[in-house]
Amino acid sequence: MSQNPLRDPRDRRLPRVPDPCVLVVFGVTGDLARKKLIPAVYDLANRGLLPPGFVLLGFARRDWGDGDFEEMAKEAAEKGARTEFRDDVWQRLQEAIKFLPGSFDDDMAFDTLASTLTDLDASHGTQGNAAFYLSIPPAAFPTVLQQMQRTGMADNRTSGGWRRVVVEKPFGHDLASSQELNKLVDDVFTARDVFRIDHYLGKETVQNLLALRFANTLFEPIWNAHHIDSVQITMAEDVGIESRAGFYEETGAARDVLQNHLLQLMALTAMEEPSSFDAEALRIEKRKVLGTIKPPKDLAAYTVRGQYDQGWLAGQRVQGYRAEKDVAADSRTETYAAVRLEVETRRWAGVPFYLRTGKRLPRRVTEIAVVFRKAPHLPFSKTDTEELGANQLVVRVQPDEGMTLRFGSKVPGSQMEVRDVAMDFLYGEAFTESSPEAYERLLLDVLLGDASLFPHNAEVEDSWRVIDPIEHYWAEQNEQGKDPELYRAGEWGPVAADEMLARDGRSWRRP
Ligand code: BG6
Repeated sequence: MSQNPLRDPRDRRLPRVPDPCVLVVFGVTGDLARKKLIPAVYDLANRGLLPPGFVLLGFARRDWGDGDFEEMAKEAAEKGARTEFRDDVWQRLQEAIKFLPGSFDDDMAFDTLASTLTDLDASHGTQGNAAFYLSIPPAAFPTVLQQMQRTGMADNRTSGGWRRVVVEKPFGHDLASSQELNKLVDDVFTARDVFRIDHYLGKETVQNLLALRFANTLFEPIWNAHHIDSVQITMAEDVGIESRAGFYEETGAARDVLQNHLLQLMALTAMEEPSSFDAEALRIEKRKVLGTIKPPKDLAAYTVRGQYDQGWLAGQRVQGYRAEKDVAADSRTETYAAVRLEVETRRWAGVPFYLRTGKRLPRRVTEIAVVFRKAPHLPFSKTDTEELGANQLVVRVQPDEGMTLRFGSKVPGSQMEVRDVAMDFLYGEAFTESSPEAYERLLLDVLLGDASLFPHNAEVEDSWRVIDPIEHYWAEQNEQGKDPELYRAGEWGPVAADEMLARDGRSWRRP
């Protein structure tokens, strides 16, 4: 890529455009490609962030030609793009869209893919650069990786450019399988060319956690066990499992969300200041936290699993999990998981981090609530402060992206009464530009080769070390014939989750 000699390479305010390249998407007919990847490619094109020599190459088991893929991609972009759909942008992108039919065990299809990549260097000037996006079930990884190795298409040296691979979560289903998967990927690609996607790290509000903590002087002095009572991290969804029973029955809420999104949020909340924001420096600090998180000693008291039952949501009657299509009638898969974790460091000693996630909860909301200790002494009478809660800083990851600070204020009047009030920062009000979608940001970073927002395999393995004992404990419960506790769709999860906090003299925030 040509560099502007007048520009300081450390200046990250101006957008950067990647080198000419091919983005190969395996499993391009799937949900993820349709809903997220193709719209993200369109948004990048619309923002002028794709290089002139860019090709989107779809690969899937469909009897399709370029025209069919173009049609599907156009529909996906029109439906899912964040930015306005413009015909001129689409016309240009359309010329860069190709499709190759093939199944993953089809040697000929992969030979054709390898030669197509070489041809594209000549026809589209892609300079040997390619990123391979594995938007496929984990069971298909070994076959696809072996095909890439066999055909030499993963090789940086012979291609003359860079070759990168993007792996979607879940990264395995426990520590052992994730280690196996990591080994498999590392045998084919060099470690720095592997990008593991945890799309929560691509969210603007999540990146803002770093700015909040490390660009300000206000919060850092109180960001520790002396001032913080507890932290609650919530990722609630009102949707059920949609059409993903095949995936979800095998996965459950803890593997689907706790192991990755929530532990990453926890790591960013708890980590020490990195020496810089490059990938390596961030990883070092995140790993220090993840390595010190211990699963609860008392798994019965401090882990909760639940499953949604039928109920009402937004005025509609919805069915229970076991009645969903392709779900076993006696399924014990959890659709809700909550856990109390601790970070064993001086900064955090004794501060519980409560993490929870669930489907069919009253509304879609993700937030990190930092709850501060109460003042050791209040020079008011008890009745003056009856409605004063603990001070809280709430980072609203989504929706209503922003932050709320809750603190006590005197109610106007001649009486003395202190009540909680909220001070709000809303992205939508403070900035005119809207935030890029997580996948838009992350795809661009892959093409730029910037790995700072991608979890390293060591982080993934550390996260499994936290989750594995919990899953084992739940599996034992299953063997003893114990079901996850049912909660009514449209309510805030099982009673046991409230009891878990009550045991500590606390309660969940109602976001
Ligand atoms: C995915 C999970 O990682 O995140 C889904 O597999 C979940 O089960 C989704 O619905 C939620 O993402 P977002 O960005 O809508 O919060």
